[in-house]
Amino acid sequence: MKTRITEMLGIEHPIMQGGMHFVGFAEMAAAVSNAGGVGIITGLTQRTPEDLAKEIARCREMTSKPFGVNLTFLPSVTPPDYPGYVKAIVEGGVKIVETAGNNPVKWLPTLKENGIKVIHKCTSVRHALKAEAIGCDAVSVDGFECGGHPGEDDVPNFILLPRAAEELKIPFLASGGMADGRSLVAALAMGADGMNMGTRFIATKEAPVHENVKQAIVNASELDTRLVMRSLRNTERVLNNAGVERLIEKEKALGSALKFEDIIGEVAGVYPKIMKEGDMDAGAWSCGMVAGLIHDIPTCQELIDRIMKEAEQIIRGRLVGMLDA
Ligand SMILES: Cc1cc2nc3c(=O)[nH]c(=O)nc-3n(C[C@H](O)[C@H](O)[C@H](O)COP(=O)(O)O)c2cc1C
Repeated sequence: MKTRITEMLGIEHPIMQGGMHFVGFAEMAAAVSNAGGVGIITGLTQRTPEDLAKEIARCREMTSKPFGVNLTFLPSVTPPDYPGYVKAIVEGGVKIVETAGNNPVKWLPTLKENGIKVIHKCTSVRHALKAEAIGCDAVSVDGFECGGHPGEDDVPNFILLPRAAEELKIPFLASGGMADGRSLVAALAMGADGMNMGTRFIATKEAPVHENVKQAIVNASELDTRLVMRSLRNTERVLNNAGVERLIEKEKALGSALKFEDIIGEVAGVYPKIMKEGDMDAGAWSCGMVAGLIHDIPTCQELIDRIMKEAEQIIRGRLVGMLDA
């Protein structure tokens, strides 16, 4: 399939794997890229820029296809060494960067000078337009159903994607709630040039996470995610568990008086416990409502091949068949 995204990134299928903390290691990114999509290493999961440089080199040994790096810009008292991470990306010869969180404008000149395509992930049309105005090459539009941070506007993709298509000139990927060939065809129908998936890629054979995490996603329904940290204006969609229930109790009890320190036990340092140790009640970890559509643990190649085959059957069979009837 050829779209503005496959052309821009030099990939076979218009499918991207979004950056995921403690999931987006070289094994994940390489598996997605080898299957014809574009895999993404999560920059900040690497403790230092030197570690990121090593992870990029490791990924290069596993694939000759294009892959990217996610850089998430979060407000923080002691910010990570962003210049160091950007240097590791540039020197590692990476040509695709997914930015997320704060406006990436400060980093665009360096990235663009080095021929890097920048895809900014955003959760609203106004942020997508801003990304277009500052010179991003594409955006990923993350709807309310997404795993991770859906923003504070709560606009689901059935509205958000066509709205983005009405306003944007640059290509965009539909993100949030995407799982299969139906998602891809729907995303394209609503004006997107491809799709970005997070949660679906965790439940794959190659995802370098504990088996408990993959099983939890397969076992979960679309009713099993919760929104947390809304009162801090840092809303996150997570899979429910004992830690999350504790967190929600604290949010109810403290209301608008809630501070980050009150919930630190349920949100800080949780990812290694979940992703590496498989301690599924450790606390809040991002997961999309799309868990309800995930029923198996295929390889990335099987998953992507199936998506593309199903998309083709829907377009050539179901949809054209309706027109020709
Ligand atoms: C476990 C997990 C961790 C994530 N970590 C990040 C992250 O560090 N940076 C980021 O930009 N997005 C992160 N995301 C969001 C994904 O890149 C993607 O936008 C989102 O998962 C899309 O929604 P879906 O899960 O419904 O496919 C994460 C998502 C999940 C499920």
